[in-house]
Amino acid sequence: MKVCCIGAGYVGGPTCTVIAHKCPDIQVTIVDVNPERIAAWNSDVASELPIYEPGLSDLVFECRGRNLFFSTDVDKAILEADIIYVSVNTPTKHSGVGKGFAADLCYVESATRRIAEVATSSKIVVEKSTVPCRTAESMRAILETNSRENVRFDILSNPEFLAEGTAVRDLLDPDRVLIGSLSTPEGLKAQRVLADLYARWVPRDRVITMGLWSSELSKLAANALLAQRISSVNALSAICEATGADVDEVAYACGLDSRIGPKFLKASVGFGGSCFQKDILNLVYLAETLHLPQVAEYWRQVVSMNEYQKQRFAERIVRCMFNTITGKRIALLGWAFKKDTGDTRESAAITVAKSLLQEGAKLHVYDPKVSRTRVMLDLAEPGVQSNEAKLGETVAVCTDIYEAAANADAVVVCTEWDEFRTLDWQRIYNNMHKPAFVFDGRLLLDVAQLREIGFRVEVIGKTL
Ligand code: NAD
Ligand code: UGA
Repeated sequence: MKVCCIGAGYVGGPTCTVIAHKCPDIQVTIVDVNPERIAAWNSDVASELPIYEPGLSDLVFECRGRNLFFSTDVDKAILEADIIYVSVNTPTKHSGVGKGFAADLCYVESATRRIAEVATSSKIVVEKSTVPCRTAESMRAILETNSRENVRFDILSNPEFLAEGTAVRDLLDPDRVLIGSLSTPEGLKAQRVLADLYARWVPRDRVITMGLWSSELSKLAANALLAQRISSVNALSAICEATGADVDEVAYACGLDSRIGPKFLKASVGFGGSCFQKDILNLVYLAETLHLPQVAEYWRQVVSMNEYQKQRFAERIVRCMFNTITGKRIALLGWAFKKDTGDTRESAAITVAKSLLQEGAKLHVYDPKVSRTRVMLDLAEPGVQSNEAKLGETVAVCTDIYEAAANADAVVVCTEWDEFRTLDWQRIYNNMHKPAFVFDGRLLLDVAQLREIGFRVEVIGKTL
């Protein structure tokens, strides 16, 4: 059996690497239109792979050249494959109808058209990208009206639930694998083929099957529910700060109720990542187009609360630092949207940094997995050419935390990297301007220890 994956991104790369690892007899080819990304996947240096995920480079090096291949030859991989994953990006539309909400399906459509044009034998096409409900119907229309004679396509929905930073672990031991299909004999047969593939390492009772539209919607629903929990606890964190309650204690008390559960109740500076916001906005758009404005408004609030949380944190920094940070140096620890990833898409750190820069601060940024180029790109205003030189006057990206914090007025923690827990805070304090502030946006640090050293400490969801 041969598997092809169109899209060598955060999902396609790890997902199909794990398939290659678990199924040495299956040839897996991951293709992409971006030659630089493919070259990076073919690098022999772990740090040059396009994605940092714990454990991923070992699997890539084990399988690559054996039964795992990364290539720009999309057509060849399509021609040879029995199963084709479509794992391309589905970003929020920036213009046209649904701008700012709807998913841009142009990449899904171009990959689908390519499959129809190139394939000379029947294929199972797996919708791996997160898409609006009923996208598989559009894919089927494109495939069926453009295919050659005697070539049939069976489309399955197989949304991905991995989280970045734990992608390999999530793929090796998923809570569930979801496969949606049409309830036709051919659809059910294709569903069985894919279920058998996953059952090589996932217990059968965790491979669940259902209809196509339920499967597509389940993905948006799962992300919306997860993000909703974070916005709920973040909304409570504002009440905690105003009342003297402690958000960690409140979350702990609530999480002990087995109906609520303890996971995903960590208050923070705000959720980031490429998907939560995008997928909720997608759900909002779906509700609006279905003439369900109250439903749309309900989910929109999850995103609004997240924006409020990021802004509230930035405003608290300014307020605590005597209402002005003009010319003050602030060390910003963490740029990735969560620990154990180099991904910065929609990271809360970007919003906080932009607010601090608007107030006239000078930023020293440190993140163990994010490059200077990435930080500068994230801060640049699109289309403004000279921006990088200008940014360079107010933003420095450091490779050493102590250097980042030297002569700073404040340290702001935006990402929960483990290494931030064990810093030599006395050394940091000695080299900072006084009063020395620490703003913990992740409830990560030992507040008592920091206060003993002399820091003024402010933490999300707590009044100290
Ligand atoms: P990504 O941007 O990292 O990767 C997508 C890749 O597809 C890019 O490298 C792009 O060049 C390539 N591509 C686009 N059109 C192509 C075409 N026609 N032919 C060949 N290659 C093409 O995106 P991602 O983070 O991997 O996300 C992919 C999908 O998975 C999205 O729908 C996303 O919502 C969903 N998802 C992402 C995550 C995550 O953790 N990032 C988790 C679950 C689901
Ligand atoms: C999320 C989901 O967890 C995955 O199941 C899903 O597949 C994926 O989106 C997707 O569709 O892309 P991911 O965004 O990679 O995964 O990471 P999460 O662990 O969900 O964290 C998202 C954001 O929420 C991060 O900024 C994180 O710091 C924040 N978060 C998470 C909190 O602030 N508090 C929490 O309790 C948990």
